[in-house]
Amino acid sequence: MKVEGQYERLEERLEERLEEKLEEAVEERTMNKKLIEVALPLEKINAESAREKSIRHGHPSTLHLWWARRPLAAARAVIWASLVDDPSSHPELFPTEEEQNKERQRLFKILEDLVVWENSNNEAVLNLAKAEIMKSTNNNPPALLDPFAGGGAIPLEAQRLGLEAHAHDLNPVAVMINKTMIEIPPRFANMPPVNPEARQKLDFDENNWKGAAGLAEDVRYYGEWMKQEAFKRIGHLYPKVKVPAGQYRLRYSITDMLDRTYYTDFFDLTWDGENAVFDDPYAEEEELENIS
Ligand SMILES: C[S@@+](CC[C@H](N)C(=O)[O-])C[C@H]1O[C@@H](n2cnc3c(N)ncnc32)[C@H](O)[C@@H]1O
Repeated sequence: MKVEGQYERLEERLEERLEEKLEEAVEERTMNKKLIEVALPLEKINAESAREKSIRHGHPSTLHLWWARRPLAAARAVIWASLVDDPSSHPELFPTEEEQNKERQRLFKILEDLVVWENSNNEAVLNLAKAEIMKSTNNNPPALLDPFAGGGAIPLEAQRLGLEAHAHDLNPVAVMINKTMIEIPPRFANMPPVNPEARQKLDFDENNWKGAAGLAEDVRYYGEWMKQEAFKRIGHLYPKVKVPAGQYRLRYSITDMLDRTYYTDFFDLTWDGENAVFDDPYAEEEELENIS
């Protein structure tokens, strides 16, 4: 009986607390309308998201195939615009609609620069975007958790925008992709590579490695080593082949669906007038059009 009474009181207190929290949240919401709730420069975000599909070098999509990957540009835009206040939230600063529109256009410009792939590591652009987040969150931005992170577009972009990012997924492949993109690189940030080739270079300088550049050198070196080992041990199972043009296009459309990942690595391709033979696994689509 006594225990039951305690539970009831606890339940009542929890309900009261939940109601308080909900009221606080509603109040907060009406005070701070976010940019994403009002307007976004969708044309630019869409164009950059579409353009990203054809970027293969340096894009996480080449790290490992993930079939439900979201464009980084869209993730970046959505996170940023969910944190930055719409100017209408600050009538004391922007009392008229005209002033609010003008300020919104200023924010749009920041966002339009932010979603450009080439600006992914542009410190000036990122710092400007981060400063807006800090301004709208009282210098205390929330952490971000993506419980269904998949290919990791959302936590990666949250981290890029300076947020504490957490990724979760039940699929171990997704977990590996997220660890590789989000968890491991910061641990080796600004550290020199350890591979002997880089260290023996005449201009090698321990202290001159920014961001993940040292780690990237090691991944390239040891990745190449692993590839050569694989060729030595099982390469004979994948002989070079000539693929008739028709068959090649079929194969290409399959790799296209799969984000043009690894299949092609085993082939060399040249056009001998009749047959297509692989030579560049990342050949541009236009080049391939010419082949058929
Ligand atoms: C559509 S994908 C997410 C794509 C991701 N936003 C991206 O940009 O790549 C959905 C993910 O949810 C994961 N998932 C589904 N049910 C889950 C569950 N109960 N717990 C954790 N992850 C789950 C799947 O493994 C899948 O990776």
